[in-house]
Amino acid sequence: MLTLLYMDPRKNPYAPGAGTVPPELAGRDDIIEKASIALDRCRNGLSARGLCFVGLRGVGKTVLLTRISQEAEAAGFVIVSIETPEKRSLPALLVPAMRSALLKLDRIAAAGHLGKRVLRVLGGFIGAMKLKYEDIEFGVDLGKETGVADSGDLEHDLSDLLVEIGKAAKEKQTALVLFIDEIQYIKENQFAALIMAMHKCAQYQLPVILMGAGLPQLVGQAGRAKSYAERLFEYPQIGPLNSTAARAALETPAAKLDVVFDKEALDEILAQTQCYPYFLQEWGKHSWQCALESPISVNAVNNATSLAITELDASFFRVRFDRLTPGEKKYLRAMAELGTGPHRSGDIATLLKKDVQTVAPTRAALIGKGMIYSPSHGDTSFTVPLFDGYLKRVMPELA
Ligand SMILES: Nc1ncnc2c1ncn2[C@@H]1O[C@H](COP(=O)(O)OP(=O)(O)OP(=O)(O)O)[C@@H](O)[C@H]1O
Ligand SMILES: [Mg+2]
Repeated sequence: MLTLLYMDPRKNPYAPGAGTVPPELAGRDDIIEKASIALDRCRNGLSARGLCFVGLRGVGKTVLLTRISQEAEAAGFVIVSIETPEKRSLPALLVPAMRSALLKLDRIAAAGHLGKRVLRVLGGFIGAMKLKYEDIEFGVDLGKETGVADSGDLEHDLSDLLVEIGKAAKEKQTALVLFIDEIQYIKENQFAALIMAMHKCAQYQLPVILMGAGLPQLVGQAGRAKSYAERLFEYPQIGPLNSTAARAALETPAAKLDVVFDKEALDEILAQTQCYPYFLQEWGKHSWQCALESPISVNAVNNATSLAITELDASFFRVRFDRLTPGEKKYLRAMAELGTGPHRSGDIATLLKKDVQTVAPTRAALIGKGMIYSPSHGDTSFTVPLFDGYLKRVMPELA
């Protein structure tokens, strides 16, 4: 009875899911500290580059941003937090998040006049942007500061707005931190406007900083949008965990519940998951379910493997697969045939019995959808780890 209690499904600590906070955020202490240093330097008026976390699907970019933003908020920073879906404009996403952040700043800034002014500047910005971006929801009337951030030109107005917010934040000895997830989906001209606005703030030494995350293509996109982007941001690579951290991700939450893993069981999970965080959570969850008692054995993990794969196929992989056209599926299936990657675009085309130019639009569409990226010129890789195996399961034949 006691052993069964150990493996109580109600206590299963593992948490697979997009953006789901893990029971143990393993292996990311250094990067969290790096972010914290950048934020403190920014608030103290010292030069600091924003961080854009770059990595494949499911490596833990979102939970990292969440952790950093929670700590920043607790430390008194003003937070504007958004995630970019594929189809919405940057101004439409920024406006409501800015509004609530500025209302907060206004409360901190009760003694200063800049808090009120900046709300009026936002009012003008909203009015001007509404004419161009139909997806902006009309908020409450904030008033208007004529001639600031209201020209209708996004590059100009976003710079004005962030500069005004920066001044108000400086007055109150705080800093504005923009958290933007899925940056790769921001349209190029809107991304350019954002980079330019951050650049303006840096020039005026105002405490405004970006903490972002996205797929590997975001680095090239930033460079294309504004050549000076690389001086403003660093792009820390977020990858699979090292084996010590991967073990900690599994063992630490279990240990809190007096459950341990056999050594071979852990080794097997690390091998199956290649230490990718999303997969570690999935295997942890199923190993717990399959184990009858602690220590969790390699037998339990072997049973868990087929369940974990079935679940990933039905969720993590499937949601991405379902968004593809038949031509895109074929292109990816050809990539899978060649293995994990990266692959030469020419080799993929050859396998499809087409020339490179003919399949170039398909490749471009897949990059746009965030399914693949180009790690170096002429190369193509999956953005979803282990996607090649999934494609072979779901499309056994290379049609
Ligand atoms: N450092 C970590 N240790 C343990 N588990 C983690 C860690 N980072 C993330 N996870 C787990 O991995 C899963 C994926 O995390 P998250 O959604 O943040 O990834 P992502 O990189 O944002 O993926 P996507 O590109 O699909 O948005 C979640 O279940 C989360 O709990
Ligand atoms: Mg994410």
